[in-house]
Amino acid sequence: MASVLHDTHSTAGSKTQVVLPAKSFRGSLMLPGDKSISHRYAMLAGMAEGTSRLTNFSTGADPHSSLSCMVSLGAKVETAGSVISVTGLGGKFEQPNGDLDCGNSGSTMRMLAGLVAGQEGTYRFVGDASLTMRPMERIRKPLELMGARIDLTDGHAPMTVHGRPLTAIDFEAPIASAQVKTAVLFAGLQAKGVTSIAEKVRTRDHSEHALRAFGAELTRENDRLSIEGVQRLKAIDATVPGDMSSAAFFLCAALLFEDSNLVLDALGMNPTRATLLDVIAAMGGTIKILDVTEQHGEMAGTIQVNRSGKLKGIEIAGALAAQLIDELPVIAAIAPYTEGGVTIRDAKELRVKESDRIALVVKNLRAMGAEVTEHEDGMYIPGSQRLRGGVIDSGMDHRIAMAFAIAALRADGETTIHGAEAASISFPEFFTWLDDLAVR
Ligand code: S3P
Repeated sequence: MASVLHDTHSTAGSKTQVVLPAKSFRGSLMLPGDKSISHRYAMLAGMAEGTSRLTNFSTGADPHSSLSCMVSLGAKVETAGSVISVTGLGGKFEQPNGDLDCGNSGSTMRMLAGLVAGQEGTYRFVGDASLTMRPMERIRKPLELMGARIDLTDGHAPMTVHGRPLTAIDFEAPIASAQVKTAVLFAGLQAKGVTSIAEKVRTRDHSEHALRAFGAELTRENDRLSIEGVQRLKAIDATVPGDMSSAAFFLCAALLFEDSNLVLDALGMNPTRATLLDVIAAMGGTIKILDVTEQHGEMAGTIQVNRSGKLKGIEIAGALAAQLIDELPVIAAIAPYTEGGVTIRDAKELRVKESDRIALVVKNLRAMGAEVTEHEDGMYIPGSQRLRGGVIDSGMDHRIAMAFAIAALRADGETTIHGAEAASISFPEFFTWLDDLAVR
């Protein structure tokens, strides 16, 4: 079978990938471990006492940035087959020799800042060109209120955290952000007193589950989380469930074809992430959940997805936009093929992700001939449109590269994606597996 993908050329830093249209999308697979959970397990395992064994850890570059930062802080990391072992420092990090390089990973920079804020040392965080543009003020404020000092460069990285003995705070999260919540929880773990955090929108709760798994006590009352300070962590053995945000690309591909069939094993089904399945169902997908297991508070299940009837449009706004923030680019990319169109609002945060994801989605949809209206906090994409293959600029943003590879499956003619290698930030296997599942 000829490949639907051609790696046509490589120049310094920009790999071009051609994606041809498909007739259907069928197959069965198990996704690499969830990126968000992998980050948290890497960091907490590095802090805990003992050796944690992490199976199905994310293959994405981002969680590996977290692991290498933990190594710089003195943790030991070994890989044997599919198991990554992390021997932690029992609560006290070493002073790193150089900068903590977070690569493209905002999660690493923001969450680890919370963890080192309570250590007595000075930690300089750097990242790539994209991460250096992203807002860090959001973590500086609460961490400084707790007693740390943080130097930023115009609100961005390079960022230096001067760790200090911390004092608990009561924090009202001004934006819906699991990374900010986690930075405060991780600092609260080391602070004197009980730190509490109120969040108006319930963001992903992997940190809460991970902290409990490593032995910390944490309570939730309505929208307020509380963590007692000066708690010690103990190593765990864990299998990371498959990544729902990576699954989103293939779930949307399955929605594009009436006779599609997709089975995903051991997929993370945490309710704060599984909102996507409700959206897939609302857009015309039939989802069968075949079995569900639970470990360390995280659920995993096997799901089978087909399309029943027409591909329907949807409106995503309010809390739903925050909960689906990583999935919005691919939902937007398939929007022109829906009956009724897609409206996305209240998603201004998309503008400060790895790229300005509103601007890039709009630009790339137009490059494929779509009509789209841009809003400051989202977009409207009318339905029942035919797209032609186009030239896509990923902006070196992994989710943009993958979202438009999915749009390409239903376009007329071939689509060329520049900067396709960005996919490896979260999902290095993406283009190979897309090739395996696309039927021509
Ligand atoms: C993440 C939270 C989200 C998300 C990111 C991963 C996490 O970011 O976009 O990909 O693991 O906590 P925000 O916290 O900035 O919303």
